[in-house]
Amino acid sequence: MEEVVERVSARVPDWQTVSGVKKRTSKAAAIHEIVHADEARRITPDKELNRVLGGGIVPGSLVLIGGEPGIGKSTLMLQLALNMPDTRTLYISGEESEQQLKMRAERLSQASKADCFILTETATQHIFKQINTVAPHLVIIDSIQTLHSAHIDAAPGSVSQVRECTAELLQFAKETAIPVFIVGHITKDGAIAGPKVLEHMVDTVLQFEGDRHHAYRILRAVKNRFGAATELGIYEMQGSGLREVSNPSEILLSQREGNMSGIAIAVLLEGMRPMLIEVQALVGNSAYGTPQRSSNGFDTKRMNMLLAVLEKRFGFRLSAQDVFLNIAGGLRVEDPAIDLAVIIAIISSQQDIPVSATIAFAGEVGLSGEIRAVNRIEQRIAEAEKLGFETIYISKYNTKGLDSSKYQISIRAVAKVEEVFQAVF
Ligand code: TYD
Ligand code: MG
Repeated sequence: MEEVVERVSARVPDWQTVSGVKKRTSKAAAIHEIVHADEARRITPDKELNRVLGGGIVPGSLVLIGGEPGIGKSTLMLQLALNMPDTRTLYISGEESEQQLKMRAERLSQASKADCFILTETATQHIFKQINTVAPHLVIIDSIQTLHSAHIDAAPGSVSQVRECTAELLQFAKETAIPVFIVGHITKDGAIAGPKVLEHMVDTVLQFEGDRHHAYRILRAVKNRFGAATELGIYEMQGSGLREVSNPSEILLSQREGNMSGIAIAVLLEGMRPMLIEVQALVGNSAYGTPQRSSNGFDTKRMNMLLAVLEKRFGFRLSAQDVFLNIAGGLRVEDPAIDLAVIIAIISSQQDIPVSATIAFAGEVGLSGEIRAVNRIEQRIAEAEKLGFETIYISKYNTKGLDSSKYQISIRAVAKVEEVFQAVF
């Protein structure tokens, strides 16, 4: 690492003057004299990105955007480069030509608010020279797998090249306080040479995900030195670029026709944001010997556990049946508050009894069929009420200190799964 520091510093001696920011010193400082970086955050025009970053871009931060090819990383970054007001941005692409980028920029049909520069170059030495000339306030690298440094004798995309180039960019960002975004490709079967090896080097890792056949994209903070790593940003990929989805419930409550069985609505929290999401289940007699179990957007192990609870505690004969579970919108849910809706959707499908579309659920289910409390219940209730739901089922253990007279929505506090069955079916 020190080697890199020396090499980089030797190459570009005047970064400090480029950005006007003081160079990092090696002198100890009293903690009360250190200025908080938060005041200096640059708010982007993209509210979803701000949220995921923890409130804007921190000066000198190195941010990795990982995702499968074709998911929209370049689009997201070019949109950022074009839209940062009063900012000189430098978008460096090793993947596309200037003409292609220009065409893409036109497709995004935005009158650029930024002073946006494009560079198609892959050698870090040349990149740093250009950075010196252009003097940008924000640098975007697309992608790290295409870069190569003359200091390392290895092919672009190899672990040692990726690591060296990232180390140089890290050094640059820290010395100049200019934030750098790095795009990194991840393949479907995990991360080969690339993003994984550099996750520990960068300040923030954002994962861009979604089903390529659906329009919705989710930007998730996987690691963030400057904010919570639980935040989500949601976008819709349109013909003219990525649109922010500021009210996710709108899209996650899918287009429902009449009263169908196998559907239940869960109230989730992703990061700080509450959202309502549709859980869909399909239960049927197994046509082949072994029953199929498959789940989209929900942990299959957890689904199997809930199925075992239904079988063992409540006598539902599910072991010979196929069970398919799907979370609408292509979202992958980890919030345990979804459990209750999962159970209700499964039983609704098995019994072929629809659940009223005016009911929402928020509760974790334990091994004995007890409904456990979930965090931030007030926020969840308020969101369900805002979206016009009439009833919400929550855990009895969530009612302590809860003033239900504050709400229009009817709050049903339950301790056991069977109480919910009796009430909704
Ligand atoms: P891209 O940003 O190139 O993905 P990545 O950099 O992650 O590989 O986006 C690729 C897809 O997005 C491509 O299939 C075309 C589509 N797209 C749109 O639907 N609308 C647009 O405005 C743009 C620019 C791309
Ligand atoms: Mg790309």
